[in-house]
Amino acid sequence: MSFWNRHKIFETNSIVLIVGILLVIAVGGLVEITPLFYLKSTIEKVDGVRPYTPLELAGRNVYIREGCYLCHSQMIRPLRDEIERYGHYSLAAESMYDHPFQWGSKRTGPDLARVGGKYSDDWHVSHLKNPRSIVPQSVMPSYAFLASNKVDPSSIADHLRTNRALGVPYTDEDVAKAAEDLKTQIDPDSAGAADLLKRYPKAVVRNFDGQGGDPTELDALVAYLQMLGTLVDFKLYNEKANLR
Ligand code: HEC
Repeated sequence: MSFWNRHKIFETNSIVLIVGILLVIAVGGLVEITPLFYLKSTIEKVDGVRPYTPLELAGRNVYIREGCYLCHSQMIRPLRDEIERYGHYSLAAESMYDHPFQWGSKRTGPDLARVGGKYSDDWHVSHLKNPRSIVPQSVMPSYAFLASNKVDPSSIADHLRTNRALGVPYTDEDVAKAAEDLKTQIDPDSAGAADLLKRYPKAVVRNFDGQGGDPTELDALVAYLQMLGTLVDFKLYNEKANLR
């Protein structure tokens, strides 16, 4: 058997072929995976990215519970048409505190990675209550019931603790004040507002749903939507990038 005919061994013996395939995959896998263990971090640190406030986190939980990710992505790809429509492409650091991440895989509706600040709170409230009132052809479901669901203040500290167990740097103070922070974020006149902003820079402190009383799930969801994509100052980021 000449040298070039030896592949016959693989082609006529399935066990040898399987062992050969496993070997090749093992080597390929090692080459791809091993370097990751020697990198300090696979995510570049970016100024401005901070953990979610308790209210934003509660809103994120509603977002996940209601399956918004089934119709909306939160990942702007570095392609020209996406950047022109949605803004700067998403950075890995922007979802470093997301457990689980909300990149999504389908866009029935638009990408939401930078929807923060694009519309007023009133717009979001009307749109979430009845999307057809704003976009007549919209296929998005109505979420009017969120306005009458209160956010549960007794479990929010546990949500922070769980995120902390996964590596999100919440301090003991953040956890201790979680239930209080929920209320503070919908009341700009409250005594704790300055303290909240110190611990969570750029947090939007407003009465989001326009109703009085304790925070509703609508407050939480709008607080979450209004902060999406607003933490990183891309003006600075672009300048730094151009300097190189
Ligand atoms: C069945 C698919 C579907 C689901 C589920 C869905 N949406 Fe939408 N969404 C859409 C479509 C389609 C649009 C575009 C038309 C419109 O504005 O209503 C949209 C638009 C939006 C917009 C406006 C985005 C922009 O830049 O104009 C926001 C914000 C939004 N959705 C939030 C949500 C949230 C929050 C949830 C979960 C509570 C949700 N959506 C669930 C389909 C969906």
